[in-house]
Amino acid sequence: MKWGELSVAGNELWDAGLYDDKHSFVWKLAAKVLDLLDAKPGERILDLGCGTGHLTARIAEAGAHVVGVDRSPEMIRQAKQRYPALRFEVMDAREIALDGIFDAVFSNATLHWIREPERVVAGIRKSLCPGGRFVAEFGGKGNTGELLSAVRRAWLKSGLAGTAPDPWYYPSLAQYAGLLEQHGFEVTHATLVDRPTPLGDGERGLPNWLKMFGGAFLEGLPEATRERLVEEIERASRPKLFRDGHWVVDYRRLRVVAKRID
Ligand code: BEZ
Repeated sequence: MKWGELSVAGNELWDAGLYDDKHSFVWKLAAKVLDLLDAKPGERILDLGCGTGHLTARIAEAGAHVVGVDRSPEMIRQAKQRYPALRFEVMDAREIALDGIFDAVFSNATLHWIREPERVVAGIRKSLCPGGRFVAEFGGKGNTGELLSAVRRAWLKSGLAGTAPDPWYYPSLAQYAGLLEQHGFEVTHATLVDRPTPLGDGERGLPNWLKMFGGAFLEGLPEATRERLVEEIERASRPKLFRDGHWVVDYRRLRVVAKRID
């Protein structure tokens, strides 16, 4: 596929309003990965999992030609509305097929959502020109560990069947670097760092977060069961994750820079 022929696919539903209103930390805390990208004027850059487009716009400010893609049509609709001069497309990260077009592929807070990392990494490599770079930040091994442990306890306490879903891909640094090497990348930077993340909005912070991101636990449950589960998760999380009137989620970020080698 050529630069001018980016295709449209996907149907993931996200609440883009809630994302922008209550979860702006997702892009506001992205300074480090933007620094690692170090976009230059004239470069062609793919922003993979662009959400409502705020980081795509930052990359464009550096003078790069950037395309933002996201699986969610609602996110893309809002991105286009907010940044009409920029280019956005609905696209699933497992299905990117943009042969050799980009100098860089950038991704923030997206790749932990995809449990088929091989497909994503293969697509990223194909999208890059030889020598092109991949720069990403997402949840690494141990990310939201306290929260997930609270979810598991709350699930049992609520009498729900089986065990709580484990929806996210949180690789260790070595696992992810190995995956990149297997797919024709040279890893030039990799760190795994704790980044405790205050959610804001006082007591509402964790319920808001669960509403936005906890679909795997909450979807399909009857209203009353869902409310009880959220209350149990809050109760189980509070000793470790509630401080000075705010919820602080135990994020751990994996940051990588890798170069396509041939
Ligand atoms: C994260 O950014 O680490 C994250 C966000 C939502 C759900 C899980 C992890």
